Amino acid sequence: MNTAKAHIKNFGCQMNKLDAALVAAALKKAGFSLCDDDRAADVVIINTCSVRDHAEQKVLSHLGNLKHAKKSRPDLVVAVIGCMAQRLGSKLLEHQAVDIVCGPAQIPQITQLISAALTDRKKFVAVTEDIRRADPNNAALEDFESLYDSDDKQIPSQAFVRVMRGCDNFCTYCIVPYVRGPEVSRPPDAIIEQLKRLAGQGVKLVTLLGQTVNSYQYKAGERTYCLADILEMAAGIPGIEWLRFITNYPQQKHFDPICRAMAALPKVCNYLHIPAQSGSDRILKAMNRRYTAAEYLALLDAARSIIPNIAIAGDFIVGFPGETEDDFQQTVELVRKALYKNCFVFKYSPRPGTTADKRLPESVSAEIKQKRNIELLAVQETISAELSAQFLNKQVTVLVEGPSKKPHLNKAENQNHPQLVSRTADDWIAVFNGPESLAGKFANVRITKTSPLTLFAQLL
Ligand code: 5AD
Ligand code: SF4
Repeated sequence: MNTAKAHIKNFGCQMNKLDAALVAAALKKAGFSLCDDDRAADVVIINTCSVRDHAEQKVLSHLGNLKHAKKSRPDLVVAVIGCMAQRLGSKLLEHQAVDIVCGPAQIPQITQLISAALTDRKKFVAVTEDIRRADPNNAALEDFESLYDSDDKQIPSQAFVRVMRGCDNFCTYCIVPYVRGPEVSRPPDAIIEQLKRLAGQGVKLVTLLGQTVNSYQYKAGERTYCLADILEMAAGIPGIEWLRFITNYPQQKHFDPICRAMAALPKVCNYLHIPAQSGSDRILKAMNRRYTAAEYLALLDAARSIIPNIAIAGDFIVGFPGETEDDFQQTVELVRKALYKNCFVFKYSPRPGTTADKRLPESVSAEIKQKRNIELLAVQETISAELSAQFLNKQVTVLVEGPSKKPHLNKAENQNHPQLVSRTADDWIAVFNGPESLAGKFANVRITKTSPLTLFAQLL
């Protein structure tokens, strides 16, 4: 048993948050205690993201601080885990601060690696040699997945459950297939068992995770399961009230059954995150996205014809190599037509080893990327404002997350209670004044004011 104190710092997406929670659970099980302050820790674990250079720079600057900290605390053990660990491998050990490098497929070994580093004072690297040839049946990873149950959930009553790992799409800008490996769907019975255990622990909202979650496909004997089947089985579990799934790849395959499941199953939230990345067919082709802008919009139409009130969210990359002002205006046009609830806009960041980085020289300056980023967000803001305004004076059910970290101002409300952050089933953020005891519970609220991304509400 270990008694060391561990601090976990997480960067990146929901997948990483889930991995960080699994590592936290594994450490606790092995006797470690967790601490919020890295200055009090014997071990610092950094879960890293490689999707853009900016994310990697943040990790490197954090490692710079830890290098200084090690001068006065030479016994401190620093572990770098996640996508950057897989991408850079032993090169990361050259950094003076780093003792352990552990890739996403090796996280089941993390407690052993840390224990060994604490006693032997040696450096360790555990990454996958040839990740695109990784064994799809990684039993250790599958076992590790179930640890999550015992850990405290980051947001009360909410949990993330992975339904698949990796990605085979090879969008030319994207590092994910090279750091998370080939696409593998988890067995339906393992997913459903896990959901039942989570429901037993009081989880009300489950978000199913996959890089392209709508590609989920699992063959068991005669039967092939798709995501719609998982949703149907999950909706039958008492205690689970809301189900979401992220992120979707715009494709015909499995799309109709998934939309029909959403329409037929009240527990499946009417929310679809479906990144378009660009509105220009020329750029989509260069990105190796296998659809045109018209086909993408047709998918949204199809979804809306089945679920009229569906909330749709998207992602875009601006400044991809070769993107002209005309290409960008086609993206603006697509955003105007898509009527997203919200969208995330990223500036293209070349990732070493990807096809775009190898074959397509950067052609858009940092200034133009910034300008396009701001312009696209401004177009979306007007749309979000119009969509959120429809909530005014309406009553909605929300799931409360907890006290707001940065209270939004609504002076009209009484300020006696802390401000709570909550979300509607279709993922709109609603803030209202209420008792902290509501965290993790459903509440009925009336919307009193709206802004593009936030609904202001009153507890009923
Ligand atoms: N540069 C900028 N954005 C990227 N994304 C993925 N790779 C890159 C990159 N190289 C964005 C995509 C994806 C989101 C998670 O990150 O929009 O949907
Ligand atoms: Fe990256 Fe494309 Fe896979 Fe998404 S679908 S993880 S953008 S390669």
